Amino acid sequence: MQRTLAIVKPDAVANKNVGEIVSRIEREGFRIVGMRLVNLSRREAEGFYAVHRDKPFFNDLTAFMSSGPAVVLCLEAEDAISKWRTVMGATNPENADEGTLRKQFATNIERNAVHGSDAPETAAVEIAYFFKGVELV
Ligand code: CMP
Repeated sequence: MQRTLAIVKPDAVANKNVGEIVSRIEREGFRIVGMRLVNLSRREAEGFYAVHRDKPFFNDLTAFMSSGPAVVLCLEAEDAISKWRTVMGATNPENADEGTLRKQFATNIERNAVHGSDAPETAAVEIAYFFKGVELV
């Protein structure tokens, strides 16, 4: 079993897509082991996306991620990281396959509805960023 961090980003929360996205998570067979509504400060968003701090989109991305509530989830499944990335679809919704969450809910590459960890090492760091061990059930 593997764990990954998922985020329902502020655009998807504002568009009232939380229910449909959580429903899809359950239908896909993930076990939700942690789930919380957060309102990230700019500093917290910058910390979360620190690996992107030198990218040209860093300022816009962290402004967007701290612009309103988001839902953070820790998901468990076999191959949870790649499984969740498949369900999300490509980062840029223009390249996302039919049936993926980003095809369905994303507006553009920045306002792309959902996030998922990209590797076991980043999943461990990202899960620990939002959840204490006792909060994962
Ligand atoms: P996410 O999976 O949360 O990881 C990093 C985020 O940066 C990514 O989703 C996008 O929302 C954003 N991102 C990646 N590339 C670009 C880009 N070229 N322009 C704007 N935002 C980007």
